[in-house]
Amino acid sequence: MTGVTRPVSGCSPRPESHMMEDLDLPAPEPGRPVFWLVRMDAAPRVIRTYEPVLSREEAWQASRFREDRARMRSVLTRGVLRLLLSRYQGMNAADLAFERGPHGKPRLIHGDERLRFNVAHSGEFGLIGVSVDADIGVDLERIRPETVTRDLARACLTPREAEVLCALEPREMAQRLHWCWARKEALVKGHGAGGSLDPREVSVPLGGPGAAAGWISRHPDGRRWSLWDIAAPEGYAAATAVDGECRGAPLFAWEHPGVEFVEIG
Ligand SMILES: CC(C)(COP(=O)(O)OP(=O)(O)OC[C@H]1O[C@@H](n2cnc3c(N)ncnc32)[C@H](O)[C@@H]1OP(=O)(O)O)[C@@H](O)C(=O)NCCC(=O)NCCS
Repeated sequence: MTGVTRPVSGCSPRPESHMMEDLDLPAPEPGRPVFWLVRMDAAPRVIRTYEPVLSREEAWQASRFREDRARMRSVLTRGVLRLLLSRYQGMNAADLAFERGPHGKPRLIHGDERLRFNVAHSGEFGLIGVSVDADIGVDLERIRPETVTRDLARACLTPREAEVLCALEPREMAQRLHWCWARKEALVKGHGAGGSLDPREVSVPLGGPGAAAGWISRHPDGRRWSLWDIAAPEGYAAATAVDGECRGAPLFAWEHPGVEFVEIG
């Protein structure tokens, strides 16, 4: 098998079917995951079209956000994730079921167990990575130079990494630190270890955007992870970590509401 299940047609009517018909979505293959960038600034009427595919628990979780923006983000990211996975699995989006690992990483259950995914959100964007046969982590960080200090660098980098970055002029250091952070967070999220893995024990490339391109990171648990930078929008840093071989990190933009898509990186 070269990829995951392609969409089935001719099923009973589905709430999302009007949005997805006849779209041949780029699908992940072993060693070649796909990544989706989702804009969070959709109009309320667009966001409402995603609500029918959420589970009752997801709808309840979204409703608990006091801030409109946070609620909309939650609906959008989960809605788009469900539509994508349903398409790859050939299942109704509303029928997909998830469970969380010991540190909170969600995964699919009762479906194609080879399909893995991970999600991140920051600023005006959500990022979804989907892989086959390999654990995956993604991270997206809005670059905010004002938040970066040398103490922060020392708190999340290995001593050698901190020495190199702290010697740079402040703007360059801030930009590189966000990329390093995205790479480390992608590794942490790929592993699913949450806060139980110390980022100061994980080495990553120290360069700016594009410095991680198939870089192999040896995890403290002995697994070899492929690290790739993702073509993040201006002002953001994004990276993925994939367990084992990975030949690239193609990024597609999810366009509301017609669900068209375009390769952007
Ligand atoms: C769990 C954790 C990974 C989430 O990170 P975050 O920056 O708050 O949020 P992100 O936008 O990147 O990701 C959130 C999504 O990650 C997923 N997620 C939650 N727990 C996860 C875990 N343990 N592993 C992987 N993914 C996880 C979820 O899908 C979540 O979205 P949802 O709640 O809407 O479903 C983070 O809280 C954490 O523990 N990080 C480790 C800290 C650290 O040492 N980082 C190293 C960087 S130097």
